[in-house]
Amino acid sequence: MTFWTPELDGYPGPRYRAIAAAIADAVTDGTLPPGAKLPPHRHLADALGVTVGTVTRGYGEAERRGLVTGRVGSGTYVLGESAPRSGLTDFSIPAADADAGTIDFGLAFPVPAHREAMLADALRRLADDPLALRDTLSYQPEPGLHRHRETLATWLREDWSVALNTEELLLTVGGLHALHLSLQVLTRPGDAVAAAGLTYPGMLAAARQQQLELLPLATDDQGIVPASLAELCRQRSVRAVYCMPNQDNPTTACMGEARRQDLLGVAMHHGVTIIEDDVHLVAAGERPPNLVDMAPDHVVYITSCSKILAGGLRVGLLRAPRRLCPALADALRGHCWMAPPLNAELACRWIESGLAGELASWQRQELGARQALAAEVFADLQFRARPYGFNLWLELPEPWRAQELTEACASRGVQVKTGEPFAVGRHPAPEAVRLALSAPVSRDAVRQGLEIVRDTLAGQPATPVTL
Ligand SMILES: Cc1ncc(COP(=O)(O)O)c(C=O)c1O
Repeated sequence: MTFWTPELDGYPGPRYRAIAAAIADAVTDGTLPPGAKLPPHRHLADALGVTVGTVTRGYGEAERRGLVTGRVGSGTYVLGESAPRSGLTDFSIPAADADAGTIDFGLAFPVPAHREAMLADALRRLADDPLALRDTLSYQPEPGLHRHRETLATWLREDWSVALNTEELLLTVGGLHALHLSLQVLTRPGDAVAAAGLTYPGMLAAARQQQLELLPLATDDQGIVPASLAELCRQRSVRAVYCMPNQDNPTTACMGEARRQDLLGVAMHHGVTIIEDDVHLVAAGERPPNLVDMAPDHVVYITSCSKILAGGLRVGLLRAPRRLCPALADALRGHCWMAPPLNAELACRWIESGLAGELASWQRQELGARQALAAEVFADLQFRARPYGFNLWLELPEPWRAQELTEACASRGVQVKTGEPFAVGRHPAPEAVRLALSAPVSRDAVRQGLEIVRDTLAGQPATPVTL
């Protein structure tokens, strides 16, 4: 049997990167077709005259770039497509004609509401405003129109108690775009960034696309454990740490104030910038101060209108220390020149008319009711949630595994997510599932779905056929 053995001479830099680059080239030119098995680590190490550790790191790097997938005990295989998987593949939006009978707890969408009429009204009013129409048709400065930034900064300050300065705010094409921009100006390909061992899949995708090494940090019921960041920084140079202190996705953890101080202390000591993701905005009374308010010079803050107004508006907000603003504006220009002013115009009209405030308080009430419902239906189960949170993190009783529950629920028309798509690298996903309580169409659907999950757990998983 002949194994694929790359010629590494033409690849500069560390040998593990050379191995990953050779895999990339072999995938592109078809030498390694989809499904091909890479040589066992020891075999390739002997053939190349490197250590087994170097091969392991090389395969790990190739996996991080989305080229291969490896599972302990069964080998490393070339993925089905040569294009890197985004990491968001498990989160594709269901087709409009998806089974209407399904109760979908999969994606943390805003609670369904009749936003179409609100949009129609805003568009009609805009149509009668020639000055605003002109603004939305013109190229604008990269950070966005000043009046839009001012309205959005005021909204964040007054409705969400996030004290941001208009001058520091950049408008982006959604929160995920803001995350990409932050990583782009804080890192270079190959740099290490850190995040909780389970984190937002968009971060996994962004890190992969920007060729960053994403390293998992230990967590507890308050999210990232600062000592684990300190330990990592003693071993490696870490450029940034990504976190969601107010409402972690998927575990729903909220960091206490002392934890925030400790995390900032470690980050500042090691010169690591914190990327604070606050897309799931949380009212001021239900959380300690934001990291950005505690240490503005060390934090890049991200949020968006997606979870309160509408995801389709793609209005994101990025606030960074002043020293990063020119590079951010430059990066934004390189992506799209500016976020579309029309979208920001509509968001600002919803804010100025008071509609955004009404939507937010209606949604809060609805989320509160859905969370209370879940607490009642899951009274005998272990779970984590926030009183007005989008998600619920259900820790499964023995003998259930997350994948088994997901499949069993799907066969009964209920969609939930395992921790697997949130896992950084090979960080083990616990036997738990995430339920986005916000997503189903009604409270009745939420109750029905929760009862199916509970009743499924009361039974036994399907017995696997053993050969
Ligand atoms: C934690 C977190 N950050 C960022 C985003 C992306 O937000 P947007 O839809 O505004 O790009 C999401 C979306 O689900 C999210 O859950």
